Formats: sequence, C-alpha cells, structure tokens
Amino acid sequence: MGGTEQRGRFYRRCLTIYGLATMSLAASCSVAATSDRGLLAGEVSEVAAGVWRIRFGNPERFVPTSFRERDPRIVSINALTDPGTLPFSLEDIRCHRLSGRLAVYVPCDEPQDEIYGFGLDPRVYRQKGYRKWLTLSAGVVGETGASHGPVPFYVSTKGYGVWVDTARVPFVHVARLTPKASLMGSAENQAGDLKTSVSELYAAQKASGKPEVVFDIPAATGVDVYVFGGPTLRQAVQRYNLFSGGGCIPPMWGLGLKYRTYTQGDHKTVMNVAETLRRQHVPCDVIGLEPGWQTNAYSCSLVWSDQRFPNHQDVVDRLRGMGYQINLWEHAYIHPSSPLFDSLKSRSGDFLVWGGLVVDFVDPKAFDLYSQYHDAEFIQHGISGFKADECDRQPITDSTPFNYPYCSIFPSGIDGEQMTQLYGYLYQRSIYTAFKKHNLRTWGDVRATASLSAPLPFNLYSDAYEQGEYLRQLLNASFTGLLWSPEVRDAPTLDEFLTRLGIAAFAPQTCLNIWSIPNPIWTQFDAEKNKKNLLLPEDEQQEVIAKVRELLNLRMSLLPYFYSAFYRYRYEGLPPARALPIEYPQDTKVRAVEDAYLFGDNLLVAPILGNKDTRKVYLPAGNDWWDFYTNTRYPGGTEQQIQTSPGRVPLFVRDNCILPLAKPVEHVADDTVFEITARVYGDEPASFTLFEDDGVSFDYEKGRFNRVTLSWRNGKGNVERTGSFHPHRCQIVAWDKIAPGSSQ
Ligand code: GAL
Repeated sequence: MGGTEQRGRFYRRCLTIYGLATMSLAASCSVAATSDRGLLAGEVSEVAAGVWRIRFGNPERFVPTSFRERDPRIVSINALTDPGTLPFSLEDIRCHRLSGRLAVYVPCDEPQDEIYGFGLDPRVYRQKGYRKWLTLSAGVVGETGASHGPVPFYVSTKGYGVWVDTARVPFVHVARLTPKASLMGSAENQAGDLKTSVSELYAAQKASGKPEVVFDIPAATGVDVYVFGGPTLRQAVQRYNLFSGGGCIPPMWGLGLKYRTYTQGDHKTVMNVAETLRRQHVPCDVIGLEPGWQTNAYSCSLVWSDQRFPNHQDVVDRLRGMGYQINLWEHAYIHPSSPLFDSLKSRSGDFLVWGGLVVDFVDPKAFDLYSQYHDAEFIQHGISGFKADECDRQPITDSTPFNYPYCSIFPSGIDGEQMTQLYGYLYQRSIYTAFKKHNLRTWGDVRATASLSAPLPFNLYSDAYEQGEYLRQLLNASFTGLLWSPEVRDAPTLDEFLTRLGIAAFAPQTCLNIWSIPNPIWTQFDAEKNKKNLLLPEDEQQEVIAKVRELLNLRMSLLPYFYSAFYRYRYEGLPPARALPIEYPQDTKVRAVEDAYLFGDNLLVAPILGNKDTRKVYLPAGNDWWDFYTNTRYPGGTEQQIQTSPGRVPLFVRDNCILPLAKPVEHVADDTVFEITARVYGDEPASFTLFEDDGVSFDYEKGRFNRVTLSWRNGKGNVERTGSFHPHRCQIVAWDKIAPGSSQ
C-alpha cells in the first residue's frame, strides 16, 4: 500500500461526543475489511475537541480504557485553545495485522523536534532513536522503556501526542527505522568509507527516509490509536491527562512528610519515631508501617501481628491523636492464613507468588472483596492510605523472580501479559474505591501503574536509587500523568543525604523510606553503620535534625501553593511538577535540560546531585528569574553558575508572579489555617489563585471550594475570594514586594 491517497480509501471520518454517540457511530461508520496485505481499515472519530481516535480492526477486550477510573473531562478539553494543525494527516497513520501481532506506524518526520514520554523510564529523556520495550518491570533490562510505569503515550515538541490503548507489551521504535521505500532516489547513508571508532561507525548508520514511530504490538488483532492535538506540547499533555479523567487531588496532609518505619520494628519503634519527630518539631504528616505490622508479609495475610503490635488499635489511635495519618504496607499476593484466602481462591491466577494468590482484579467480585476487606478492617479503623508494593515484575536477570508469567490463566479471561501490565493499576483502583465510598481522599504509594493513571492518588517509587535516574523519572512522569516519589532511604554522607532530601522535598510526595534500618534516620544516615548501631554523636544528630527540619519547613511553607497546582492537574490537566518543555514549549534550549523542572506554576527547581555545591542552571527564556534565597535577578534565556550549600536546593522564582508562602505547620489538621505572606516578584505580577477546601473529602467536586485570588495593583495587594466554603483555610497576613538583591 502506497501513499496517503490510497490509504485514505480505508478511512471513514466521524464526529462524535465521547460515550453517548459511540454506539451509533460505530454502526454507521463500519468500514471495509482489511486489505489482502494485512493493512487494516482505520475509522476516525473526534472524541473531544482536538482528540481523535482511530480504530483499527476489533480492539481487545482488556485494554486501559475498559478499566478507566474516570470518564474523560470533556468540558475541560473543549475549553482548551484550538488544537492547531497536526504535522501529519490522521489518514497517514497505518496499521498492519501481521502474524500474531499488529504494527502501527505514526509519521514522525520532524528532524528539528524532540519526542518525550513513554512513562517512567529511568534511563532516557529524549526518546528519538530508541527502541522502547514498554514492559512493567522493577528494573531496566536491555532495551529502554521497562519501568514501574510504562505508558505507550508520547508527545512531540511539534505540538501533539499519540497514545495506543493497549495492555500488551509493545516494542516502540522511535524514529529509528529506515523503510525500504527510502532507498528510492537516495544514496544517503550508502557511503562506503570505513570508520575507525564505534561511535562514528554507528553514527553513519542513522535511519533515513521519512521517520515514523512504529508500535509493534503482540497478540492484538485490533487497536485504538488516539491523537491529541496541541497547538503545543503543553496542551497535548493537558489533553491526555484530561482524557484520562483529569489529575488527582491529594488530601492536603498528603503533601507533608511521610516517614516509613523499620520493617522489623514494633509498636515501640513506631511510637519512638512519631514522638521524636513531634518533640523535635520536624514536620511530618504520615507514619508508614512496613511489612512487620502483619502476621505474614511475603505473601500477605493482611492481618495485624499481635506479636509486634499487641494492641494495634491503641497505636493507631495514639498516632492519630498526635496528628498523624497512618499508611500500611502490603501487596496483593494473598497468604493462605489470610481471611481473604478462601473467597479469592477461585478468583485468582493459576500461579502463586510467594505462596500467595494473585488476585484476579478484573473479576468484579474479586475487586470488591479486596476493596471491602480494606474498608472493614482498616479504613473504618483509622487507616488513611496503603503502600501497594511488589505489583511490578522482577527483571529477568534476577534469579529470585517473584511474578507470575505471561502464560498465566485468570478466571476472568485476561491473560498474564495483560494482567502484569494492569495489576498495579487495578490494585490501586480497588483500594481507592474503598476510600471513595466514605467520601475520603487517600494518598498512597504504588510500584506499578499503567496508562490513564492521572486520577489515581498514588505515587510511584522504586528500590533503585541512582540520583540522576530519580530526577529523570520525576521529569518523565510529568509527560504521562504519573506521580513519582524520589524517596530517601540512606546515604553515605550527610551532603548526599541532604541533596537527596532536596529532590524529595520538591516532588509530588516527600518520603523518608527507612524500612531497612533499625534506628531513626537522623541518628545515622549511613545504612550499614545504622544496622550496627554505630550512631552519630548527639550534636551531629542534632545537626541532621536541624537541616531536615529546615528543608521540610520550606516544603510546608509551599504547601498551599503546591496544593493549588493539583487543582490545575484535576481541572486543566497540567501536572503539578513539570518538565520544562511543558512549561516553555517555545524555548528550544530547554529541550535537553534533564536536571531542572517546574514545581507548581512559578518555581524552577535545579537540584544538586551528589556532594557538589555548585552547578549550572539554564533559566528558560521569556521572563526573568529571581534566586529564591538571595533575590538576585537573572535574565531568562541564560545559563548561570550557581553556588549553593548542602540542603539548600537552588530555586528560582518566575518574574512577575505572586508566590504565597505559608508559616510552616508541623502537620496538616482538618482545621489548619495557613498564615500566608504573599511575595510579589516584578512590577506587573500575574495574579495567583489559591484553592481552599476541606482537604480530605470529595466535596470539592460538588463545588465546595473557594478560589482565593491574589493580585497586586498600584503598589497594593488584593485578595478576592469566590465560593462559599467555610471555614477559610488561607489567611493572607502580609504582602512582601521583593526588591532585587535583597537577600533574606
Ligand atoms: C520492597 C519495597 C521497599 C520496602 C520493602 C519491604 O519491595 O520496595 O520500599 O517496602 O519491600 O519489604
């Protein structure tokens, strides 16, 4: 099959409104069968303004859209700017049915542009030229693409995005293949000169012809491909997140520190951490319990251990009385001693993991049983969140594999490959459903997720620990509706400990995951020494506590500001932390920046990695930037060499903005009122809107929230509140017009 004209014969275009018209549309638009060479007919529907679905053949039954948490937010998509013109025609997207697989070809003839996305990839940021293997995995093996959150969605700086609705594990060739057709009339890349280095050798083999992104999808015989218009990459990301249903809004307390305690610890270990944090005035909102709270953890009984927690309800009540939320570690492989075991026996896969049942979450009954158990046993007893661990897949290089295979059989009919890809996603949904029933928000942790995850209030994390990868994952997550928690576990030096905490303090979740070491982290951050009880002298412990407190207080002061960013995530699809190409699509220089990002609307974070005290930072063009600490003003579009000290994360404030800074609280209570100083940067600052609500329920969905808009006119600050939510959560106590160079 040749060019556009010929292929066009196989397309029908239909305009529809998502959901309602789909059935009749499908009937009225049924198209011709495949060509004799496996080319499938495509059926185009516009599902919302600037979002097109192209249906090839009969899509599979078990795909992400079959399990979506929320319907697309069509109102918000339609409210976005005009999507602009795509750089290709939808008819140019082809799909071939081959023996046992499908191939989808999307034009990508845009040599000056970059491609981002594909989920939580720890290794690669700019995606062109790579072969991605989008497999759910606890580690990267071979091809890039394996991750805790592989998502077959990418965006281009040309201003569009493409998503394939599949739960298969595709190979994706990102503008790296040379179609035979490109031989015609071109002798490029045929040069016969012999190279003398490996890099030159392979550089000479670059793909040529009209590049495409090729999705090579096993098993499927039909698939839906979605194209999200722009006009810039920013709106393409927004469209995808809104199509996913819009982002989650965490409970307000979720934005404070989560401290996870020692896995072998008991009630005394937990209370010691909780009491010391309060005594030392280190802000903390959530105490997380690791496996030891259960009678059996690998696999899980989901029953409290009487041995370590003889009166667990008392511990829960005391912690709650101190203002803590409690998060429980678990995984969804069910131990024979669990009360859930019998009812799930016939509703699980044909292989065990650590001797436990693999829950068939696709079966509605199994989904409900799991959900209701969490409700009755934990949520109704004061538990606010869960850490859904181990739901990814051990890399094949590991000799202790813990997962079920792709050839697993589940009673619902989903196969092992699809289940592996969707397990973490469905698992989150089952838990989240239990909270929603009580009109309660939650904030959890999860080690695996899939497409359409934006509405799910869970943070991805990993056992991997390379700092550069942690930062890259934060950026990559922002392209595909994922949240990443760059947890801190330990560090060989105080400086590294603080630089790690620096990234965590400016991430969707700040987590100290001290599961593997017995003594609290401030007594010794070096894991090996901590395990041997070689603790720091008291004065050094105090120094660690002081630094941790300082960093966390800074996060707490930004809490109302950052919380408001989640409203934009929910209703506009803009991620709370953003890679720079999302925020500055016009500035081509930001495209290669993998070590800085936006935290909320107006703060650029340039974390330090390792033990350094200086780094270069590129400040995007379009506006000036203010050093948060010294108020030095820098022009945008410039690179600066920044000097800093451990624990002081380089931060830059966008010129002409209002930055609300709250007096830090030690934890967020239902009645916390934030005392806010509005800092004013520049002479013509844009207004800033804070959101106020109860911080814990879904009542905001019924309009029970306020918009508190801060503006600055004629040298004076104004506060305008709309909405009828009471009591007010934000009190503007002062205005501070920042003068250049007036360091704090
Ligand atoms: C790991 C998890 C860690 C910790 C540990 C407890 O799988 O990634 O964060 O929870 O289990 O056994």
